[in-house]
Amino acid sequence: MKIHHIGYLTKKMDKTLAQFLRLGYSTEKEPAYDDVRDVNIAFVVNGDYRVELIEPASADSPMAPLLARFKNTPYHICYEVDDLDTSAGELINAGYTVLQPPAPAPCIDGKRVEFLLHGSMGIIELLEA
Ligand code: NI
Repeated sequence: MKIHHIGYLTKKMDKTLAQFLRLGYSTEKEPAYDDVRDVNIAFVVNGDYRVELIEPASADSPMAPLLARFKNTPYHICYEVDDLDTSAGELINAGYTVLQPPAPAPCIDGKRVEFLLHGSMGIIELLEA
């Protein structure tokens, strides 16, 4: 599956974004609020690589527990798929469980995404192209 981005958790969006820019990334999408997950999201690119910065916007964000556990860190890889339900179904049959069911991603043009979990893989995200 083609990689769309690597998801990177951040405690402070502006500070982490500044560090990515220092390392030669450029901003693809300025920070914006995702009201589905209560997070702020920005995208930076470096050559063919795209990183999504995710900052929980409140203690109630579903991402807040992850931040408490991992601090600033990459935590998921997102893959592009043609048909979200088909690809997710195949992975679920292969042992993945649903972490967050399909929902629109306001910061990715409203496209549908789904988060899956596997004990030998951790968290992956599927993005419907
Ligand atoms: Ni993502």
